[in-house]
Amino acid sequence: MAEAMLIARGLHAYYGRAHILADVALEVGAGEVVVLIGRNGAGKSTTMKCLIGLVRPAAGEIEFAGYRTERLAPHAIARLGLGYVPEERRIFTDLTVAENLEVGRRPPRQGLEPWTPERLFRLFPNLGEMRGRPGGRMSGGEQQMLTIARTLMGNPACILLDEPSEGLAPVIIEQMAATIRDLKAHGVAVLLAEQNLHFAGLVADRAYVIEKGGIRYSGSMAELAADEAVRAAYLSV
Ligand SMILES: Nc1ncnc2c1ncn2[C@@H]1O[C@H](COP(=O)(O)OP(=O)(O)OP(=O)(O)O)[C@@H](O)[C@H]1O
Ligand SMILES: [Mg+2]
Repeated sequence: MAEAMLIARGLHAYYGRAHILADVALEVGAGEVVVLIGRNGAGKSTTMKCLIGLVRPAAGEIEFAGYRTERLAPHAIARLGLGYVPEERRIFTDLTVAENLEVGRRPPRQGLEPWTPERLFRLFPNLGEMRGRPGGRMSGGEQQMLTIARTLMGNPACILLDEPSEGLAPVIIEQMAATIRDLKAHGVAVLLAEQNLHFAGLVADRAYVIEKGGIRYSGSMAELAADEAVRAAYLSV
């Protein structure tokens, strides 16, 4: 694995008195695509919210880009270069595609070529063709791409994508997978939360399987694909 960029160790999280995450540990290397895969309610989104500072872990450590971040606010973690695309798409429906991108613009980051609308339109040709269209008049898949593009305008070194394939038509899922592979090629590390093993197989280098708030398995994507027992026990396949 490349040098670890994002590291979580021994994470515990609660909602009220419900113990949701128990001893979650994971690592994402620079330029790696890693999937956190598990069924509904397994704790994928909660893990991501801990990593970006939206849920405060009760115990455990998080390191990003060499900084301890488990006590930092979300905006401070984002400024260190961690991008986050939540499950629910959050575009501005009254703003055009181009205006939505401007909302996400942040200073460039050393060592990474800065993202501009023109560069993003090469990665997302559909968005380029509709740059003047209000966000509210786009399909779900287009909105999902726009959310990712807007996050990239912040020049993240690593991006958390919470179920990017959810609700997308099969052909759009293939486009999303190609986009994630392009991000990796541009040096952006990706942590993906997914239930869809097929989609994860198209993009991920490594996988962590989460169930009932705990990591049950970790290995390469190829090892997971070959491990029928793990898939039967923890995934809906
Ligand atoms: N705000 C909340 N308050 C209380 N319980 C919550 C809250 N959000 C999630 N939970 C519970 O925490 C557990 C983990 O939820 P989480 O959203 O992290 O799962 P997930 O793996 O992302 O699931 P999904 O695939 O449905 O998105 C579930 O049992 C869920 O019901
Ligand atoms: Mg979720």
